[in-house]
Amino acid sequence: MRLDVITIFPDYLQPLDLSLIGTARRNGLLDLHVHDLREHTHDRHRTVDDTPYGGGAGMVMKPEPWGEALDQLTAGDTVPHLIVPGPGGTPFTQQTARDLAQEPWLAFACGRYEGIDERVYEEAAERMPVSVLSLGDYVLNGGEVAVLAMVEAIARLIPGVIGNEQSLVEESHEDGLLEYPVYTKPAVWRGREVPEILLSGNHGAIAAWRHEQRLQRTAARRPDLLSD
Ligand code: ADE
Repeated sequence: MRLDVITIFPDYLQPLDLSLIGTARRNGLLDLHVHDLREHTHDRHRTVDDTPYGGGAGMVMKPEPWGEALDQLTAGDTVPHLIVPGPGGTPFTQQTARDLAQEPWLAFACGRYEGIDERVYEEAAERMPVSVLSLGDYVLNGGEVAVLAMVEAIARLIPGVIGNEQSLVEESHEDGLLEYPVYTKPAVWRGREVPEILLSGNHGAIAAWRHEQRLQRTAARRPDLLSD
């Protein structure tokens, strides 16, 4: 999969060199490029923002650098699916990650300040699919942290990125329930014992116990998941 990220803070994306995502890049499973939006400014101060028309607080990202950056990405025969993270977007869920993991090419546009001039979205949508996606109902300072989260959630679903693919199966959100609690050695730690059933060797009983734990945990922490 090809991934491009456009940002005014390329250093923010450095964690994508680490861990499983970093290994996937080195193995050629992910072809990831980070671009500095300021490369597409042409004034001495490399300006990317300006005051909002109509007044109001904060600054808005200017359309010209974004237009140029997207032109550069779309110069070839194929175009990416453009993802713009923002608190005003559609919720990014495990299903979104599954859908996006099927795509050959994703480009992420990291907004800052009060957002990007609306015409950038309109013009981009004339030449590529555009999705505005939110991590949740809270506000980050910019899209970079959201891109780190989205890229990790998407990339780990690509075959080969995670060593043990079985670990993708019984995860929270894969089938609408949260995960069961897990334990490892020692069997007693600070006077706390591992649930006896897990030491029983009875795989059927363990599976039933884990399922029950998932239901209880989901009811306690995320009743909204059980109601629909
Ligand atoms: N940028 C700022 N806040 C965000 C959020 N909640 N989700 C995605 N991108 C964001």
